[in-house]
Amino acid sequence: MTREKPKNLWLSRWGFILAATGSAVGLGNIWKFPYITGEYGGGAFVLMYLACILAIGIPVMMTEIALGRRGRGSPIDAIGRVVKENNGNPLWKAVGGMAMLAGFMILCFYVVVAGWAFAYTWKMLDGSLAATSVDALGQVFGEHNANPWQLGGWSVLVALLTLWIVAKGVQQGIERAVRWMMPGLALMLLVLVGYAFTSGSFGAGFDFLFSFDASKITGEALLAALGHAFFTLSLASGAILTYGSYIPDGQSITRTTFMVAFADTAVALLAGLAIFPIIFANGMSPSAGPGLIFMSLPLAFQQMPFGTLFGVLFFAMVSIAALTSAISMIEATVAYLNEKHGISRLKAAMGAGAVLLIISLLAMLSFNLLAGWTPGGQNFFDWLDYLTSRWMMPLGGIFLVLLAGYALRGEIMRDELNLPPLGYALWLFMVRYVCPVLITMVFLHALGWLGFDPIAKWYWIAGAIGALAVLGEVLRPRVVSALVDR
Ligand code: PHE
Repeated sequence: MTREKPKNLWLSRWGFILAATGSAVGLGNIWKFPYITGEYGGGAFVLMYLACILAIGIPVMMTEIALGRRGRGSPIDAIGRVVKENNGNPLWKAVGGMAMLAGFMILCFYVVVAGWAFAYTWKMLDGSLAATSVDALGQVFGEHNANPWQLGGWSVLVALLTLWIVAKGVQQGIERAVRWMMPGLALMLLVLVGYAFTSGSFGAGFDFLFSFDASKITGEALLAALGHAFFTLSLASGAILTYGSYIPDGQSITRTTFMVAFADTAVALLAGLAIFPIIFANGMSPSAGPGLIFMSLPLAFQQMPFGTLFGVLFFAMVSIAALTSAISMIEATVAYLNEKHGISRLKAAMGAGAVLLIISLLAMLSFNLLAGWTPGGQNFFDWLDYLTSRWMMPLGGIFLVLLAGYALRGEIMRDELNLPPLGYALWLFMVRYVCPVLITMVFLHALGWLGFDPIAKWYWIAGAIGALAVLGEVLRPRVVSALVDR
């Protein structure tokens, strides 16, 4: 069977690495990671998060890139082609459809948070953050959100910028944007860490992130770490798969994956090293929740030398990080419309953008006019977040690893991944056993079937399945070959 020719390819070797890092590094790293680390108590959480990146994030990302490159297209089309090559069931395409939808839904609320970052860059400059207490800053945040025009205006700005970049194409839009935004972001981050090093309580920040307290390892924290690993690496949302479909044939998927995962993790840790020393130097609490960077940090910046300058730098960095993630969330949809229905990228972006604006409007209004509309106990914004992170991403992840680990003929993935035997065996073991078991635990937890501390009850089960898997892998080939030899 002839392989599908790529319609689009990254211009340079760095194209995918920069774009995928741009996708991965976002609000998840700079906004969410610090505050959940704060909530779950620091070093122990960081360790669990690193373990999840290694055990699940990396194998799943390799799988997505391989599927994308093999099938060359949007998630639906790429999975469709790979499954066809394998004479498999076309229903697997639904996995691609769900991922695409997840990416789109994430964008619908992500523009709101990204809008906060853009607005705060501005507010840092115009003096509206000149409050003298965290409470007063909380009020500023509340007022910003209570005004639908203000909140909506900034969110719409983010949405339009995103659509504009994506409409311009893979090379001229996305690759060109990330080529200067990513180095810029790295530079800003290093400057900020340097600033935290000289003017913050760097030691306290460092200890908080890296000192390990075994009693903080709880099931609840592990599950949060696992969910965050999916989100921060942009997995099961169409982003990585679609970007992967633009990688040239010879490039190593494994090396590329490790680079992206490393960069993403490094940014999360460095963001922690930039934020916590500043929080501690000003006697604030690291567990302030989602408002951490919007309420605590501006106050801290005000109390420090050159604080305004560095505050602007900080929020500009968050804005850029958010923008390069936002474009990856809608690329799958645009690629799909473009490829499947022959619509130009510009029209596809406009069409998808119209739907995006309508749905995200509901997310913007969740903070003001529709704040009282809470079907099932949460507002629309929270619903989008909940449905995507708790359900769609883990579900997509599990189907992706089942597809790659069990449903496809071995040689398809082996060809694409092009690993030495031991590396391939390790990947296969991860996608066959470790990922499904761990992701299932996330699910059972989401369903409320795992209590507050599931590991206490479930690690035996997970361990047993793991042991079974080892036995299965070691014994089955022997048994098979013994039978065949006779
Ligand atoms: N990885 C991004 C972040 O950390 C979020 C994201 C999720 C991007 C899904 C693309 C797809 O902010």
